[in-house]
Amino acid sequence: MEHTFIMVKPDGVRRGLVGEVISRFERKGLTLEKIRKLTIDEALARRHYAEHVEKGFFPDLLAFITSGPVVAMQWSGQDAISVARTLMGATDPKKAAPGTIRGDFGLAVTENLVHGSDGPESAARELALFFG
Ligand code: RTP
Ligand code: MG
Repeated sequence: MEHTFIMVKPDGVRRGLVGEVISRFERKGLTLEKIRKLTIDEALARRHYAEHVEKGFFPDLLAFITSGPVVAMQWSGQDAISVARTLMGATDPKKAAPGTIRGDFGLAVTENLVHGSDGPESAARELALFFG
């Protein structure tokens, strides 16, 4: 059993896609364990996206991720981290396969609807950050 951190980003919340995202994970067989709606401030954004703060796209990412409420979640299940990433699709929604969340609902790389932990260490770190 593995845990992962999933977040519906501000575009997904604004567009009323929270239920759609939850439904896809539930139908796959993953289990929702914790859920919390909040607005991310700059300090939390810098901690959550610590690996990206020096990158050229970070100002856009920071403005976007703090632009409205997100829905933060803990999910569990067999291989939950990689299974969730598969359901989400590629980072760039233009390249994400149809049938994935980003492939079905996204167009721009910044506004790509969902975040999911990319490995066990980031899952533990992100779950502690939002639910610790
Ligand atoms: P996330 O962390 O949000 O789940 O997305 P990811 O693993 O698929 O992608 P990552 O490389 O961690 O990038 C984090 C977020 O930064 C934005 N981004 N913009 N303009 C760009 O080239 C660019 N590259 C990444 C995306 O919103 C991405 O989800
Ligand atoms: Mg990432």
